[in-house]
Amino acid sequence: MGSISRPVTEFCLDLYNKLNRNAENTNIVFSPMSISVALALVHLGARNNTAAQIEEVLHARKATGRTSLGSDPESAETEPEGSQEKQLSPSQCNKDGDLNHKEFQALLLQLQNLGERYVLTLANNLFIQQGFELQQQFLTCSEELYGAMLQTVDFHGAVEAARIKINTWVESETQGKIKELFAPGVIDVHALLVLVNVIYFKASWEHKFEEQKTVQRDFKLNQNEKKPVQMMYQKGTFKLGYIEEMGAQVLELPYAQKTLSMIVLLPGDMADGSTSGLEQIESTMTYENLTLWASSEHMFETTVEVYLPRFKLEGTFSLNEVLQEMGMTDVFNESKADLSAMSFAKSLVLSNVVHKTYMEVNEEGTVAAAGTAAAIVRRSLPLKEVFMADHPFLFFIRHNPTNTILFFGKLCSP
Ligand SMILES: *[C@@H]1O[C@H](CO)[C@@H](O)[C@H](O)[C@H]1NC(C)=O
Ligand SMILES: *[C@@H]1O[C@H](CO)[C@@H](O)[C@H](O)[C@H]1NC(C)=O
Ligand SMILES: *[C@@H]1O[C@H](CO)[C@@H](O)[C@H](O)[C@H]1NC(C)=O
Repeated sequence: MGSISRPVTEFCLDLYNKLNRNAENTNIVFSPMSISVALALVHLGARNNTAAQIEEVLHARKATGRTSLGSDPESAETEPEGSQEKQLSPSQCNKDGDLNHKEFQALLLQLQNLGERYVLTLANNLFIQQGFELQQQFLTCSEELYGAMLQTVDFHGAVEAARIKINTWVESETQGKIKELFAPGVIDVHALLVLVNVIYFKASWEHKFEEQKTVQRDFKLNQNEKKPVQMMYQKGTFKLGYIEEMGAQVLELPYAQKTLSMIVLLPGDMADGSTSGLEQIESTMTYENLTLWASSEHMFETTVEVYLPRFKLEGTFSLNEVLQEMGMTDVFNESKADLSAMSFAKSLVLSNVVHKTYMEVNEEGTVAAAGTAAAIVRRSLPLKEVFMADHPFLFFIRHNPTNTILFFGKLCSP
């Protein structure tokens, strides 16, 4: 394990940079892990260049095989592609391409067993226009690897019924937290294949915030505007780091049993009148830097007074355009898509990829965790630090055993 940590992080940063364009002052949250899994599911059904482009976007191509696949659709079309042929072996579901389905499967298994203090619901489904004959191998493997069930709907003849069917499925998968994924009229009657990927997350902090310490405080939206928010507070021992060059702080807040952690990247205060702190982090946030900033070598344990707003975030994205910009063009193009491992029909093409993340951040924790905190000897350490998240910041939620980014987001307005 661990080798999907890097590709997921790189995919995360690519996607964040796309979603963050024209998103100044806008909250963002998405799950790079969950979207990667959804695309891996499509990859199971894809062949030739269509499959290769998915591997490229997911950073799954082996270093030696790096090509400009997807960046130039015209030249890709004329390439002889027989050599890239990938076939499902009848005995196992892992294709012999560069994408390691077994690793995603192993990660998903770990995420299903986080324990009772976690709620992490990940659901992937492909909705396909009725009439397409499906490859049995694909049905078997998509269920075996990803627990995904292909469902047949009639977009052409009964798009409203199809919409209701998808929404109902999403609502039931997320225990009612995600309702009305698709508003009326959103689904195209010409749709053939719609990939729906939703994830819901809620967990207990390892060290809970006491509710009576939550107070209303101003959150600075920018230099001139503020808004009152419910600011949680606790003083405890946490891992804290600095990005010296930009006066930013990095705080790790562990969830139950420290299996997952939220890492908050907080730019320096805006008191000096600069709002560029966030952009400065964004522009230097490479894979290497992000990994370094959030590593235990870069952080030290100390007593920290933590102020963090209570927030709920929902992010819904139709990813067709950004995925195409990232190089996954063929799967969306009628004359190029090769989903022949999914269906015998030549004309099958991916119509839509919709991702939705829903997460909540509040005080919740457990009595047991509060008990351990009390064991810390109280002295006034000179090292006491203040972490005041009262202005826009970036955060991500990491699965610590595999170092995989499950969620990534930007909070501009709680
Ligand atoms: C794509 O894959 C199929 C089946 O694996 C193969 O028959 C075909 O020659 C490949 N190449 C192209 C360009 O379709
Ligand atoms: C990595 O972060 C440092 C600040 O810690 C910054 O000076 C440097 O430019 C960043 N690297 C890249 C490639 O952006
Ligand atoms: C699909 O691919 C063909 C052939 O390269 C191209 O001419 C066409 O513009 C593409 N269609 C779309 C919608 O991108």
